[in-house]
Amino acid sequence: MKFEQFELERNQSLFENEVDFNLSESGVHPLKLSEILTADEQKEILDTELFYGYTNGTPALRQRVADIYEKNISLENVLITSGSAEANFLSIMTQLEPGDEIIYMVPNYLQIFHLARSFGVNVKCLPLRQQLGWQWDLDELNKLVTQNTKMIAVCNPNNPTGALMSNEVMDKVIELASDVDCWLLSDEVYRGAELNGIECRSFAGATDKTIVNAGLSKAYSLPGLRMGWSVGSQSYIERAWSFHDFTVINVAYLSDWVASRILEEKRRKVILDRTKRHLNHNLDMLIEWGKDISSFTFTRPDAAAITFAKLNLPIGCEDFIFNLRDHYSVLLTAGKWHGLEGYIRFGYGTPTEYVMGGLERIAQYLKKFTD
Ligand SMILES: Cc1ncc(COP(=O)(O)O)c(C=O)c1O
Repeated sequence: MKFEQFELERNQSLFENEVDFNLSESGVHPLKLSEILTADEQKEILDTELFYGYTNGTPALRQRVADIYEKNISLENVLITSGSAEANFLSIMTQLEPGDEIIYMVPNYLQIFHLARSFGVNVKCLPLRQQLGWQWDLDELNKLVTQNTKMIAVCNPNNPTGALMSNEVMDKVIELASDVDCWLLSDEVYRGAELNGIECRSFAGATDKTIVNAGLSKAYSLPGLRMGWSVGSQSYIERAWSFHDFTVINVAYLSDWVASRILEEKRRKVILDRTKRHLNHNLDMLIEWGKDISSFTFTRPDAAAITFAKLNLPIGCEDFIFNLRDHYSVLLTAGKWHGLEGYIRFGYGTPTEYVMGGLERIAQYLKKFTD
């Protein structure tokens, strides 16, 4: 089977550890275990036997994940996965066949786009419209959904725009998915990183065929745990679990152990409050910096540690990124790798001085275009 290149991840994998300033990251700068576990827990973890554990995730962790969602979600509706990346992979592998048709939101992370196309799925892209505040146009959505639609795949909050889907659009998506009885796949890995601190509405439990994938890499600042999950009907979870036997069997027992503790209600709130404070602080700084920079038009996102800026220069976004990377050692991501030319994604979740250091280098680079 011939796989398409996952350009975004490939570029990050190759260069994120090589540059002086990596502003390509979409999550919040990672926490240390010493910051989130008590002294007793730190001691306990050293004395923990490293079992395989439960291949679908320990009951304690699955219950904690279920508790995050408002609708009737119980631990039977949860599968613990190796990042939300594995959760997305399982959703595509278990539910789609070559020749199936899916509706896919762009701009996006494009994991599902490349994966589904590699398996011969017909991916119909539906653009978010910037003039609508990065929302889907409901008429366009209505026209695209037909009896042939096997899945509607969304990312909410959206990567790379940081936009939240409006209630009106969410209701319509649910209505259309019910009408044609298709899968509704919602990647919600940025949920919890809303700038106003109010967790956005989840699609979890919206229909029998709704799958929500999420994890701890972004809002929770713990990408190194490689902790994700899928929430869906019991039959979906059983099917995804049996495919997970082929992928990773289970996540590292230590990650499961840590995650089940940090998802306790109080600690979860402490982490998400930290995320909100940090993101607001850094975003204010970035927007302030951007005021004097005519090469970009910045808009304030609703969530996530990213903003998708319009590039107002006569250069392709990929060339812009490559020159910046090679001559100024700063990594950003190109709109093209998210499915939309002419934009650049800035990640601002790293420590404030680090973000500022990267912005100063970018300002030096921009002089080349204005001098
Ligand atoms: C929308 C989206 N989904 C999934 C992932 C994968 O994240 P992880 O596997 O770390 O949860 C990412 C990573 O950037 C993402 O942006």
